Amino acid sequence: MQRKDTPLAMFDTHAGAGMYDLTATPSQKTGEWKVGIGKLWGSNDPDWQPLLSIIKNINGDTDKLGYYPGSPLLMAEHLRIIDTLTLCETSDGPMKHLRDNFGNQRRIHIHQRDGYEALIALLPPKGAKRALIHIDPPFEQNDYAHLYDTVPKALHRFRQGVFAIWYPVKTRASALPFVNKMRALVGDDEKVLNLSMMTGLENTLAMNGTGMFIINPPFGFEAHIKKRIVKLERLLKQD
Ligand SMILES: C[S@@+](CC[C@H](N)C(=O)[O-])C[C@H]1O[C@@H](n2cnc3c(N)ncnc32)[C@H](O)[C@@H]1O
Repeated sequence: MQRKDTPLAMFDTHAGAGMYDLTATPSQKTGEWKVGIGKLWGSNDPDWQPLLSIIKNINGDTDKLGYYPGSPLLMAEHLRIIDTLTLCETSDGPMKHLRDNFGNQRRIHIHQRDGYEALIALLPPKGAKRALIHIDPPFEQNDYAHLYDTVPKALHRFRQGVFAIWYPVKTRASALPFVNKMRALVGDDEKVLNLSMMTGLENTLAMNGTGMFIINPPFGFEAHIKKRIVKLERLLKQD
């Protein structure tokens, strides 16, 4: 999206803290990072270098994997002088980190506000004809209902927006109703791309995979990402 020299507005409706300390108790307890980024860390594969170089940078250019970037930091790293980034988060803890890490950057707007409601209020973006909208909810309680309600409204307000909606996958079959419903709500006029990856054995008890439903994927993105997802799935697959 940044091959063009025109402003891009980026939105992260569920921003989280922006950065995670993998040495802190919550990360140590689950150890999830070891079968995720832990397997990529140290790789020389050119496909992972854009991500790995950002991670190296936030770890003070060392080989130690201590901090891991959340979506706000990944997006902030790509901000050009003509772009903006809007971060929404409701919880006080992550909000404090967002303010500490990004509060003094003029092109980053931080809102302690419901991301669904904010998205509808803030679209179409001011000063940009293009937008990347990342939606990464916790998928608790009413998140499915909120997505079914918010995404069509947001799309109606900004037809050309690129929406990247993350979703959890327990089994491929259990994720299908969400994907099919989103597809139906978006309608036939919009191009959509559904990506998913299974790294654990399929069962309905845990999250064994991950998915992203993308509306209006940029030109050329599908070929670019599919090749990498196949490779990543192979690399992260657990016994
Ligand atoms: C899965 S995490 C986001 C992770 C983040 N995108 C990242 O890549 O690091 C979901 C976040 O959404 C926040 N949240 C929950 N409901 C929200 C809402 N309605 N609006 C905005 N943020 C919300 C939670 O506090 C939590 O920090």
